[in-house]
Amino acid sequence: MNSLKEFDFNCWDPIINSSLSDQVIAALEGGQVVVLPHLAFNLLPEEERFLSSIWSDKKAKNISLRPNAGLRGAAGSELDMLALRGMIERFASQSQQLISKILPSYTPNLTVANTSFRPFEVEARVSSYRKDDTRLHPDAFPSNPTQGTRLLRVFNNVNPDGKPRVWRVGEPFTQMATQFLPKTKALFPLQAWLMKQLHITKRTRTEYDHRMLQLHDQVKADMDYQKNSPQQSVNFMPGTTWIVYSDQVLHAAMSGQYMFEQTFHLPVSGLKNPETAPLSVLEKMLKRSLIN
Ligand code: SIN
Ligand code: FE
Repeated sequence: MNSLKEFDFNCWDPIINSSLSDQVIAALEGGQVVVLPHLAFNLLPEEERFLSSIWSDKKAKNISLRPNAGLRGAAGSELDMLALRGMIERFASQSQQLISKILPSYTPNLTVANTSFRPFEVEARVSSYRKDDTRLHPDAFPSNPTQGTRLLRVFNNVNPDGKPRVWRVGEPFTQMATQFLPKTKALFPLQAWLMKQLHITKRTRTEYDHRMLQLHDQVKADMDYQKNSPQQSVNFMPGTTWIVYSDQVLHAAMSGQYMFEQTFHLPVSGLKNPETAPLSVLEKMLKRSLIN
């Protein structure tokens, strides 16, 4: 099993031909992590001070920027916040540029979502196993149903001390789902409606979201699976960019500090091979639609 596919792009607006772009798409949609070891995100000298957890508001785990909204999770003077925001916006715009250059066929359907800066050391001792990202999991969020839309994420390690971000990457999504999907339950229509009415969810939780959340939770709860399922440990060194469909790729963050992340949303219909989407995989196994 090789969960990684390396490319040597070394700038944020590479000129690449369509056959190379097809290779990147095949890797991503095939459930590999696309690794760009020579694509650093460079901080300006005056931004180096932001490599510290003192800028966190200590309430949120990450400092994040939503498109057309303010900075969340950070605290400091107005001037400092403006500069911090500028740094995160630059990562957002470079990531967008990268994706539009290497995956031009995605652009018409792609939506830019949140950008985050993660200033804390990866933490295993969290309040609940569900929130413990040192356990392998596919991404699925209780309050944020995707209704099948893909989560494409661009990461960059900016650690100044040579410290890698260490991940474990698990087995293919289909293999995990074959084992865990039979243990998940359907969703009662009233349950979904109620969660929307009570604003527990931002939009209606479909059966797809309900099943994905259960997969996320059950995989994290199964310590035998965590330890013994096929997996690969990966060190993402500082100066490395990596791209992944995090709803599909089982991942766990084991250690590291100072990372940027940009999320994009892509509907299943925007994929080159929609069959590879978690939605398609689960629908095929359950033999029915999971989003109506
Ligand atoms: C995650 O998405 O589970 C965490 C990734 C990271 O913080 O490296
Ligand atoms: Fe995750």
